[in-house]
Amino acid sequence: MKQRVYITRKLPDYIVEAYSEKYDIRMWDKAETPVPREVLLEEVQYADALFSTLSEQINRELFEAGKKLKIVSNLAVGFDNIDLDVAREYGVPVTNTPDVLTETTADLTFALLMATARRLIEGYERIQKNEWDNWAPFMLAGTDIHHKTIGIVGMGRIGEAVAKRAKGFNMNIIYHNRSRKAEFETAVEAEYKEFDELIEASDFVVSLLPLTEETKGKFNKEVFHKMKKTAIFINASRGGVVNETDLYEALVEGEIQAAGLDVFASEPIKNDHPLATLKNVVALPHIGSASVDTREKMIDLCFKNIDAVLSGENPLTEI
Ligand code: DGY
Repeated sequence: MKQRVYITRKLPDYIVEAYSEKYDIRMWDKAETPVPREVLLEEVQYADALFSTLSEQINRELFEAGKKLKIVSNLAVGFDNIDLDVAREYGVPVTNTPDVLTETTADLTFALLMATARRLIEGYERIQKNEWDNWAPFMLAGTDIHHKTIGIVGMGRIGEAVAKRAKGFNMNIIYHNRSRKAEFETAVEAEYKEFDELIEASDFVVSLLPLTEETKGKFNKEVFHKMKKTAIFINASRGGVVNETDLYEALVEGEIQAAGLDVFASEPIKNDHPLATLKNVVALPHIGSASVDTREKMIDLCFKNIDAVLSGENPLTEI
């Protein structure tokens, strides 16, 4: 009998077909709506492998139900939706999708930085609303990017890729991380700073921090207060690292100039979310790694991890 793989979102047939000869593939039938919890808990009982997304909470309740599970393969590099301690307790390896999304996520992070600094969305809206009446010297005048200081908080693979882009824009690069990275510092002429020093010196503060107990709400009132009044805050990691009420107040009260946000504490958000109502915010629906090529590579890596474990081998990217 074929081993069963449960996939929590509808994926394109051309991708799934490659594995359906070997495995009994079951899949939630909607691409843009998460699988209801009760359906997931039912399906996971019969699954040898779970192909999950960041929309599912992979916790004790799930491992309790999924007694046959041999692997959870999560379609993301971040894994704050997964209780790894419980996974270990149940002896189920968990995998993520590093590397394949690094450059794509760095592209989006830099695009968000540029769109926020140069007020691209406001420009587009002005034309959409038919409000471009004349040229004016300071119409939609934004902030320069070149030769400014970018402070990257969380220097993993994506941070390094963002720093390379910043170097191309002749930016001054500073970073903060749990550990220093000597080789990287030389390669892009980056300078290590303590967190507070970085916050005070940056024109652009870019958060690429994973969400953990230590980083939860790290960007708060006190931190925004220490930033330059002209600072632009970019978050392309997880919304939970920001105290959103404090960020809203900092933006309204002019403590900082603007923010570019790809992620929110509780997703999805609607247009009445306070941060989405501000002119000086560029808000995106968590699309950091969303290019067709990269999503295909992420899905492929998820399947490869499943295939390895169900064939009795080690997973490629175990967390
Ligand atoms: C990730 O991989 O963690 C992204 O946030 C989702 O693509």
